[in-house]
Amino acid sequence: DRTIRIAPSILSADFAAFGAECEAIEAQGADWVHVDVMDGHFVPNLTFGPAMVKAIRPHVKTVMDVHLMIAPADPYLQAFAEAGADILTVHAEAGPHLHRSLQAVRGLGCKAGVALNPATPADAIDYVLDDIDLICVMTVNPGFGGQSFIASQVAKVRRLRAMVGDRPVHIEIDGGVTPETAPRVVAAGADVLVAGSGVFKGGSVANPGVYGDNIRAI
Ligand code: DX5
Ligand code: ZN
Repeated sequence: DRTIRIAPSILSADFAAFGAECEAIEAQGADWVHVDVMDGHFVPNLTFGPAMVKAIRPHVKTVMDVHLMIAPADPYLQAFAEAGADILTVHAEAGPHLHRSLQAVRGLGCKAGVALNPATPADAIDYVLDDIDLICVMTVNPGFGGQSFIASQVAKVRRLRAMVGDRPVHIEIDGGVTPETAPRVVAAGADVLVAGSGVFKGGSVANPGVYGDNIRAI
């Protein structure tokens, strides 16, 4: 079953209205809600922490997909799990003990994701394939919404899908997903498409219909 899921990133939503924004995108067909946590250290931007995730949780009925762009991640995993994350994704580059981080995530009762920056080879996760539920392939350098898709990552997606074999592992694409790039990564084996600016562009709580149009366009 390779159902394609759309996970709008609230990085491009109205930060003063996250609850309403989450409800609006779900009403328009979002499968998951993607939550970008940035620390101003691992990536050159800051967003928010577990308190915000906890505040949003009651407004998300589907899956809360939390992408941790923080280093170190381990000291904060429990707080994000308790805040209500369903999936916790850590970056392979964020610390020396990826296997330990993934074990910790599963131990907290969350699905475990690992994200790969554009320069990180697929082989970086060769020995943790049985410890993950999701691979997030960064198709931009993490930190900001609205950047251009890095085409070299399509081959990485294809390679990862072959590595995964018949394990039940999602391959998620994060960054620069548009109606033009989405079919290319789906053909290569991706099944979850994160979209920030593609979904929220022109959107607002006052005009939620635009979410649905943009979600369907992808
Ligand atoms: C980038 C984030 C992405 C971002 C995607 O660091 O991880 O989730 O919001 O935004 P778009 O879809 O605008 O590239
Ligand atoms: Zn993300």
